[in-house]
Amino acid sequence: MSTESTARDLFASMTGHEPDGVWSAPGRVNLIGEHTDYNEGFVLPFAIPHRTVAAVGVRGDDRGRVRVASTFAAEPVEVALGELGDLFPTPTGAAPAVPEWAAYPLGVAWAMQDAGITGAGVDIAIASDVPVGAGLSSSAAIEGAAASALNDLWSAGLDKTALARIGRRAENEAVGAPTGIMDQMATMIGGVDTAIFLDCRSLEAQQVPLAVAEAGLAILVIDTRVKHAHSTGGYRERREACERGAQIMGVPSLRDVSVDDLPRAAELMDDVTFRRVRHIVTENQRVLDTVAALRAEGPRAIGDLLVASHASMRDDFEISVPELDTAVESALAAGAIGARMTGGGFGGAAIALIDADATDAVSSAVNAAFTAAGFAEPALFTVTPSAGAHRDA
Ligand code: GLA
Repeated sequence: MSTESTARDLFASMTGHEPDGVWSAPGRVNLIGEHTDYNEGFVLPFAIPHRTVAAVGVRGDDRGRVRVASTFAAEPVEVALGELGDLFPTPTGAAPAVPEWAAYPLGVAWAMQDAGITGAGVDIAIASDVPVGAGLSSSAAIEGAAASALNDLWSAGLDKTALARIGRRAENEAVGAPTGIMDQMATMIGGVDTAIFLDCRSLEAQQVPLAVAEAGLAILVIDTRVKHAHSTGGYRERREACERGAQIMGVPSLRDVSVDDLPRAAELMDDVTFRRVRHIVTENQRVLDTVAALRAEGPRAIGDLLVASHASMRDDFEISVPELDTAVESALAAGAIGARMTGGGFGGAAIALIDADATDAVSSAVNAAFTAAGFAEPALFTVTPSAGAHRDA
């Protein structure tokens, strides 16, 4: 059954009638530019075919209540729109006042209201085929689908960037994950055959054709199935280290530090902070170099940049895990042109840029390496850049 049918069925079983519409938003893969977004730097993600679908209807009984159901949970969660402001923002470090899955769509409704936009009570039924906890932005996909639906049903008229900001507020302040805006922008503005070159300071976005298939290549996702969460632990610590580094350098964010500044940075800060800073500064440069290489020569030219990015995340930013390193190393050993972990790290997925006709061979090699290392079997699938959030019906 399609994800849309699942969402429609869930809606019908909750309400006894058909939804007013169906909206969906994709997960994403980040080609390069990791942890640069909250440092006001550069990223290059693309939307993937996996999507979250929201079947949504205005409530006939309109008592100003929002009810959300998801295939992730047995029971719907229902809240008065007027009470969302009592639930959110979630205090830093605390768990949301509602089950976490419900904090995404309810957080979107709250952020909309906080921006002065509201409307009738709604029922929202959510289904998704974006793997959860895999670093493929299943959460931004929920936010993007919910924000798109409410934007239409509440006649808000917000553009995609504004909806991405709404999604990010839900993530940061309702769910409590201190993330940047990359995932929400990717899910809103992703497009077929294109990566999104995003300046996270201005939010100016350019489409960069990937032309992977034309070059005889494919992008293989290697989901290690090691689950991660960004509301706790390492992600927040990395963010704090970056803020510390920027403060020591006397700049508003690490976007303002260049590769030429690194020798001075090394003198001013402790080794760990310096290595965190060096990752961000060099990663920003790698994004720029990747965009230039794609434009000048096409995707075969970006392999070394992907590999250098992974090494920087493993050694300087220290957000890789053995499963991700094994994924990258085994893919490269089997002939991948480039490979790196993607997303926030501490688990999740790696990507490998491979010859399309080597998909089976690389997949087998990765599987064999995981078995030899005693790791759980990874999930392997290829992705192509796909459409961003939209109304489906
Ligand atoms: C997660 C966050 C993003 C970004 C990446 C790392 O996906 O949601 O904002 O920081 O990690 O690049």
